[in-house]
Amino acid sequence: MKTFQLNNGELIPAVGFGVFQIPNNGPTYEATLAALKAGYRHIDTAAGYMNESDVGKAIKESGIDRKDIYITSKLWLQDYGYENAKKGIENSLKALNVDYIDLYLLHQPYGDYLGAWKALEEALIAGKIKSIGISNITVNLWNKFKDGMKMMPVVNQVEFNPFTQQKELRKVMAENNILLEAWYPLGHGNKDLLENDTIIFLTKKYHKNAGQIILRWIYQEGVISLPKSTNPERMKGNIEIFDFELTDDEMKAMEALDTGKATHNPEDPVNETRLMGLKIHD
Ligand code: A2P
Repeated sequence: MKTFQLNNGELIPAVGFGVFQIPNNGPTYEATLAALKAGYRHIDTAAGYMNESDVGKAIKESGIDRKDIYITSKLWLQDYGYENAKKGIENSLKALNVDYIDLYLLHQPYGDYLGAWKALEEALIAGKIKSIGISNITVNLWNKFKDGMKMMPVVNQVEFNPFTQQKELRKVMAENNILLEAWYPLGHGNKDLLENDTIIFLTKKYHKNAGQIILRWIYQEGVISLPKSTNPERMKGNIEIFDFELTDDEMKAMEALDTGKATHNPEDPVNETRLMGLKIHD
């Protein structure tokens, strides 16, 4: 698996398996185990997904060395503020049944954000977390929070795919050496995207499926992707993107698909949470 280097020198696998909306107590365990068997070494979960324990169980039972698997989780909104965040981090470590988490993110802008960030910084110094990052932070929010952060985030995980290219945000993040991570890299299965003419043309040229073309494009853009699939063939295929390369012209044709819009508005986290079917309190 190819990796990208974060601004703290750590390496992150370029493609991770996302488990958003996969239920706990079975389905997430099975999906994670299948992903690890298919060759994924990067799993992206969150306290808010309520499936960290299944991820942890699959990792233990996979027989793969802990150090060979990259685990990302995220602090959920009810655990914001310094004291609550310290507990939230411990809860994630416990649910995942690990000694450390590779990457821990603040899931959304909310409440006492900078208090929560301070707890992440301390957990990093204590060795409980290897890298810390942010998620769903727009340029506007970045300008609001950045001066209150002692440590630089390594990533900002946001909605990103050929229709949602986040051009302004990418520029600002690049200036700060913060990599983007793509949630909804395949547009959450959006047919208009997966059946787009430019993409279909490329599927024929490279003998790859639409998802693979999009994920290759994201990789060449220098963005980490977190595709989700419960179909074993597509799950496996989504990491088979390192044996071909899009040309400069093809990259430009993909770039032209940008609508400049996102389907979700991170500046309204409470509404977002509801739309995503997540709960702030269980
Ligand atoms: P499935 O689970 O049947 O494979 P996203 O990661 O952007 O949220 O998108 C996930 C959606 O994209 C799921 O509906 C998934 O369906 C579908 N999907 C996953 N991989 C591919 C692929 N390679 N080609 C087309 N659709 C895919």
